[in-house]
Amino acid sequence: MSSSPHALVFPYPAQGHVIPLMELSFRLLDRGFKVTFLNTDYNHERVVSAMKGKGSNQIRMASIPDGLGPEETRSDLGRLTESIAAVMPKPLENLIMEEKNKFTRFIADTNMPWAFAIAKKMAIRTVAFFPSAAGLLALFFNITKLIENGIIDENGLLKEETCQLSLGVNPVSSLHLPWNCFHDELARKAVFQTCFKTAEEFAEEIVICNSFEELEKPIFELYSPRIKPIGPLLATLRSDAASIGSFWSQERACITWLDNQLPKSVIYVAFGSFTVINHKQFHELALGLELTGRPFLWVVRPGFTEGTVDEDAYPLNFKERVLGRGHMVSWAPQQHVLQHPSIACFISHCGWNSTIEGVTNGVPFLSWPYFGDQFFDQDYICDVWKIGLGLVPDENGVIRREQIIAKVEELLGDEDIKSRSLALKGMAHKSVKEGGSSFENLNSFVDAMRGD
Ligand code: UDX
Repeated sequence: MSSSPHALVFPYPAQGHVIPLMELSFRLLDRGFKVTFLNTDYNHERVVSAMKGKGSNQIRMASIPDGLGPEETRSDLGRLTESIAAVMPKPLENLIMEEKNKFTRFIADTNMPWAFAIAKKMAIRTVAFFPSAAGLLALFFNITKLIENGIIDENGLLKEETCQLSLGVNPVSSLHLPWNCFHDELARKAVFQTCFKTAEEFAEEIVICNSFEELEKPIFELYSPRIKPIGPLLATLRSDAASIGSFWSQERACITWLDNQLPKSVIYVAFGSFTVINHKQFHELALGLELTGRPFLWVVRPGFTEGTVDEDAYPLNFKERVLGRGHMVSWAPQQHVLQHPSIACFISHCGWNSTIEGVTNGVPFLSWPYFGDQFFDQDYICDVWKIGLGLVPDENGVIRREQIIAKVEELLGDEDIKSRSLALKGMAHKSVKEGGSSFENLNSFVDAMRGD
């Protein structure tokens, strides 16, 4: 009898990448695979400590160093990307070598082309996972065409206001191309180069992604079978629903708090794992939430506020005034929160995982993007799927409390947005059920992995 296929799964070391690949790992286990999940040492510690010993005993967790010191920040993506590319290849090669003949597949993030080169050198078949919207990957595949057509110059800077890949595909504002959504020029250039390289590296491969056919239909029609959606990859869509892979320990008591709120009454506010906001903006957001008069659950992640200790950032007596109605946590079980019947809407930075999680649970959005792909996702939410409204900073770059209050009221009074959100939720759930598009895609992709 042949032994089970064994996947070595390797995410880029950031929260929004670890979570969906962990979910993919569970789906592989269900289909008879063994899985070794490879984190950086730093993230391995965080994941294990956040699980408090309640981890999966089925997935084997391994780790290698990322090259940064214990006190160094992992939020500087440029520095992190540079460091892992310089330091991780050798330990990765050693790990594969030591366990020679063990791994039958290497599954990793497209953000680490060097890791694919190693796996190929060691004769392991690879699978590329794209962690953002499929529409973005399609854009990356067209960077050369965009330059030739004079939409952007060879540094990615815009020359035309919008670009459209094909008739039927939503036009993208050139300002919202992800490499143009970084504040400093170095990061902008580095991201543009990465997008360019991603397109070159994976042009001939099938790339899987955390989306579903009905969500980005024109893209999958254009790029079938090269871009294959197998999502939504969410813990809440699995039978045991335990979420694993969080970098911070989840404050599960907030679910009990949600249990005591009225159906569709709570504003959920969360900005993912990277976004940092300044003191002025934090203040306006806090007062805006307070003045809505509605219950809210707000994730104030450690280090969320710039230049100040989070506790000091709250307006004077804010916590006393919102006691009982406003619930702040340092990290939420977000997928379970969004699934909760008391949630009315989601104030979100529109990271791709948060976007997919809101969509799958039929929750309308107030979008508040900060960088990278988040503006592209906002366009999907507000202009293509029409399941949310955008918040717009004033001339000083601040989103004021008055706007927050007005947009919450407008969103919650909009029945069309609510019904479109529910329709997408239905499609998302159907896609992962037996016979659904993602269910079939996942099975055929797994069969192909077993076959060769
Ligand atoms: C980053 C980028 O910012 C994002 O734009 C890109 O698409 C992926 O990488 P991040 O900012 O962390 O990700 O956002 P997001 O993609 O939304 O991922 C955050 C994940 O953390 C989600 O799975 C979310 O459920 C989880 N989360 C967030 C929690 O579990 N608890 C929280 O309190 C907040």
